[in-house]
Amino acid sequence: MIEIAPSILAADFTRLGQQVNDALACGVKRIHVDVMDGHFVPNISMGPFVVKWIKPIVANAGAIIETHLMIEEPERYIGNFVNAGADLVTVHVETCPHLHRTLQQIRELRAKVGVALNPATPLVLLEEVLDQVDLVLVMTVNPGFGGQEFIPECLDKIARLRKMLSERKLPQVDIEIDGGVHVGTIAAAAINGATVAVVGTGVFNSANSVAENIAALRKAAGTL
Ligand code: DX5
Ligand code: ZN
Repeated sequence: MIEIAPSILAADFTRLGQQVNDALACGVKRIHVDVMDGHFVPNISMGPFVVKWIKPIVANAGAIIETHLMIEEPERYIGNFVNAGADLVTVHVETCPHLHRTLQQIRELRAKVGVALNPATPLVLLEEVLDQVDLVLVMTVNPGFGGQEFIPECLDKIARLRKMLSERKLPQVDIEIDGGVHVGTIAAAAINGATVAVVGTGVFNSANSVAENIAALRKAAGTL
């Protein structure tokens, strides 16, 4: 069973509240906020104030806000995002020389803990912290922009991660995929062990409505 986490990176910001409500009305339980600093990734996106603004409507729907920090020195901003209303904070292993401490910092702020890997980053870098996280985000594109092609080689990485988690008796840890997820790629990711799929352009940026897009994704994933 794979859950859809719409990424507001692809939303129409002239009517962001409506777009988030449209997704929540489909029973979505996670809103994904892609945070980019123009250093770790070649794009700049949004900050804690966006989390603050959407928090009331997301919380009112019983859903959570997950913030994906594609930024250098994330430890400097985790508190700002949690105070703004982030329920889950995901940091990139590539930006955390003191990863154990940074994950502890998220936990101490009583947010859920996520760690992300770029496509070329090996799973072995997570070995010492898998029991510290609630979610592992496997990037299925090179981070920075929505609307990119899914990298099929990541499917094997998802399967190996699911095996690593079951060997460590950590079945409760979510595997989230992010990037290039659409009706043609979501099923394979679910079969390989992904439990959450971040979808940006596949939800917000197409001729169809948000509800139609989410229904099509659920149908393709076999969860409708
Ligand atoms: C990449 C972003 C995107 C976004 C999803 O840095 O993280 O992956 O969430 O974008 P789509 O679904 O449009 O590929
Ligand atoms: Zn993301």
